[in-house]
Amino acid sequence: MFHDIPDAVLKRMRVLEEIDARDRLDGTPKASRLRQIPAESGRFLALLLAGAPRGAVLEVGTSAGYSSLWLSLACKLRAEHLTTFEILPEKIVLASETFQQAGVAEFVQLVTGDARQLLADWDKIAFCFLDADKEIYAECYELVVPRLLPGGILAADNAISHPELQPFIDFALADPRVDALVVPVGKGILVCRKSDLGE
Ligand SMILES: C[S@@+](CC[C@H](N)C(=O)[O-])C[C@H]1O[C@@H](n2cnc3c(N)ncnc32)[C@H](O)[C@@H]1O
Repeated sequence: MFHDIPDAVLKRMRVLEEIDARDRLDGTPKASRLRQIPAESGRFLALLLAGAPRGAVLEVGTSAGYSSLWLSLACKLRAEHLTTFEILPEKIVLASETFQQAGVAEFVQLVTGDARQLLADWDKIAFCFLDADKEIYAECYELVVPRLLPGGILAADNAISHPELQPFIDFALADPRVDALVVPVGKGILVCRKSDLGE
């Protein structure tokens, strides 16, 4: 998976990494910044997804599609596609460019809209990466967890970098429907695995 990343994917990753690094230094307003995950988080998520059960693969918060590119590596391995939700039209344009230029459009379905209105249409979720505005994490979690397959994974970014997420993380760590842990990779990733009983 990591040993044969296509050149077009690597090239687009490098471009997005440069834009993201520049955004963080030059005062670009928050809504316009890419705010993407670090590369090591992308690797970790691709590894997690590669070992998840078969089923729907979702992402909440596409931005320009950087994390989606990492997830697409595992989707290719699994011969499944990723469905990724983004609410901002300007990010949709960037993400579409990403998926075309990287040559992963066949593995990625980009859906425009508020994930809170879209997630209820899914079930048999094998994997969901949550990386949107922090105020909607708890709501998305409650939409996703009942729809996870037994053994399905919900991973949420910023579990260490954003202290305001602590009540949400404490809730997930104590939630009997999942086994959960905060993994200190990148900005901290909360990993929740649905109980095998599927309750
Ligand atoms: C932190 S960025 C995502 C970065 C991306 N995952 C990456 O690593 O490349 C969060 C994104 O979530 C989007 N977003 C925020 N609220 C949303 C919602 N309710 N539904 C869908 N997308 C949302 C934002 O517009 C923004 O592009």
